[in-house]
Amino acid sequence: MLLFERGIYLREHVRNEVRRLGASIIESKEFMSAYNETHHNATSVAKHSEDVACTSIRICRLLEKFGISVNHQDMVNAALCHDLGMLDRNEKYESVKACHKEHPMESVSVAKSILADYNDNVEDAISNHMWPVTGSFPKSKEGRVIVVADKYCAMKDLRHIMRLYLALVLLRIGIILP
Ligand SMILES: [Fe+2]
Ligand SMILES: [Fe+2]
Repeated sequence: MLLFERGIYLREHVRNEVRRLGASIIESKEFMSAYNETHHNATSVAKHSEDVACTSIRICRLLEKFGISVNHQDMVNAALCHDLGMLDRNEKYESVKACHKEHPMESVSVAKSILADYNDNVEDAISNHMWPVTGSFPKSKEGRVIVVADKYCAMKDLRHIMRLYLALVLLRIGIILP
């Protein structure tokens, strides 16, 4: 198998694991409506959450190569639910700042209502995923993986905005310069 083909195969393998472990969440009405909630001006809450879940599983597989085991079920549960507190955020929160601060605990409430296997690990991971902006450093390995995966995916989502910003700056410089 070529390296390129192996990359595609592994990506699909990770996606299938997320779809299998997160089936009950993905099929929930809360997650369905998350496809209509924009996130980072570039994606939806649902797509971002799927991205975080896939990235988390890839990090878990890497950690397992070093003998560190992480609970994949808790990982996927927490990743898919971590931003569901953002649904209807314009009606729920007074400001963007309030949304940043309060959505993790709101996501905990949504996760409790969806998950049959909700536990302390999942709560720790969801409630502290915004660290260091809000919350405290997660105690669970799953929580620590999500902190990294969430930031990485947010940067990927925001790169389009950064490119647009850069293009506008260059355009402005072009206009200013003779
Ligand atoms: Fe978040
Ligand atoms: Fe997120």
